[in-house]
Amino acid sequence: MARLFIPGPTDVAPEILEAQAQPMIGHRSQAFADLFGRIQGRLRQILKTDHRVYVTASSGSGLQEAALRNGVAHRVLVCINGAFGDRWFKVATSNGIPTDPLQFEWGQPVDPDQVAHALKAKRYDALAVVHNETSTGIENPIAEIGALAREVNPEILLFVDAVSSAGGVDIQTDAWGVDVLLTSSQKCFALPPGLAFAAVSDRVLERAKKIPHRGWYFDFLLLEKYIQRDMTPATPAISLLYALDAQLDRILSEGLQARFARHQRMAEIARAWASERFALFAAAGHRSKTVTTVHNTRQIDVGELNTFLAQYEMSIANGYGPFKDKTFRIGHMGEIQPADLETLLAHIDRFLERQA
Ligand SMILES: Cc1ncc(COP(=O)(O)O)c(C=O)c1O
Repeated sequence: MARLFIPGPTDVAPEILEAQAQPMIGHRSQAFADLFGRIQGRLRQILKTDHRVYVTASSGSGLQEAALRNGVAHRVLVCINGAFGDRWFKVATSNGIPTDPLQFEWGQPVDPDQVAHALKAKRYDALAVVHNETSTGIENPIAEIGALAREVNPEILLFVDAVSSAGGVDIQTDAWGVDVLLTSSQKCFALPPGLAFAAVSDRVLERAKKIPHRGWYFDFLLLEKYIQRDMTPATPAISLLYALDAQLDRILSEGLQARFARHQRMAEIARAWASERFALFAAAGHRSKTVTTVHNTRQIDVGELNTFLAQYEMSIANGYGPFKDKTFRIGHMGEIQPADLETLLAHIDRFLERQA
């Protein structure tokens, strides 16, 4: 039974937690190379890519830093329509990378035409955007953004943060022309936090060759050298890789289409429930399939709601940053089933009845 209806970390199935308890192996052993190689193929399948997928012992933010340090030789344009677009911006500027923000209203999607307009106005060699903006519950139109961006500049590299959607939503990394597609383990992949994955195109590696100071831990050229042998430069998080190995089987045995449809179905349930009782914060037509942001039109006390839900060992998330208490967020990703979500919503209804 699901407990965490927050947009990550999500509940991890008991057998996946148990998989972590296997004995250690040496990370230069054949057993490790077999494990790492097995993981690669299935990650490519889920992320719909022929590119290599680097797996790092970090959370997703580490790979945002990696994309920027390896992939921007000149200047990056960052689309911001929520806290995680802002994260892209902060990671870029704190690394001293020439960066321009392109701001959109929170709760509205990134507009591909405005992106194209900005790309025409100044020379950029990379564009960074969030697929599923977890702070507002917006899904940005990556395919359209990528297509228009390449029309303006075929050389531009497209970096996409899919931290709260990959593994639960159909992301077509190669078909959408994404050069770095990054995500974290603790959201739709329903794993403990601590691993991050990035599908990285050859174009990025070519760019990286021209950038002298890429750092060491997240140097794509170094990761590439090791991944050729199904290894990592530094000691990998072996226990988490055991969990990933088991969870990839679980994901593929559910079936990708079924998994994506389950997430879509849960979004529909959450949206229908929220529109009847409150209102939806995110713009229609661009709503997230993994997190529903509810406009708190009844001004309920979100803290009290969570105290009430705690008796069922359940919790939801408050609104993010400036939208705390003005909105609240219901996460429906990972291994949560529609019936779990319906149970949660029935409990919230009981809370609402008590308020009336
Ligand atoms: C869209 C998005 N991007 C980036 C992050 C940061 O990821 P991590 O905490 O794995 O570094 C999050 C975390 O919630 C997120 O939701």
